Amino acid sequence: MTLNRRTVLAGSLAATSTIALAACAADTPVTETSPPAASVDQAPSELSGEILIGTTDEIPVGTGKKIMLDEELTILVTHPKQDQYRAFNASCTHQGCIVSGVQDGQIACTCHGARFNTDSGEPERGPAETALRKITIEVRGNELYALL
Ligand code: FES
Repeated sequence: MTLNRRTVLAGSLAATSTIALAACAADTPVTETSPPAASVDQAPSELSGEILIGTTDEIPVGTGKKIMLDEELTILVTHPKQDQYRAFNASCTHQGCIVSGVQDGQIACTCHGARFNTDSGEPERGPAETALRKITIEVRGNELYALL
């Protein structure tokens, strides 16, 4: 078997994701977060390729799971309806806090109280005024892949 750079990168990131997955349970209670020292725009992630981010059974309908892909990029995968998965950059569009997770059917940022739609990422309560950035994901069997 020949490994190219993309395969190796995806494989190593999958391992990283597995570690991050262990730390970010789907039913993790919403917790307070602090604004980051630098926004995502100031320190963009250089990840690219297809990254295995988990399996569908880890994210029941109505929940979400945060996955730290690297120090600059944490994503939130949501499951708003049966067989419908979405993923977003977890950095809040207000001031860059990492959103806390899904709470009462919305994506919650506890820094200043913003709420976002779990399907579209659009803000449903301020102070955030713009949508979370969507991340393309694919479901292959029971595996979820982020396409970066
Ligand atoms: S950073 Fe999310 S509400 Fe302010």
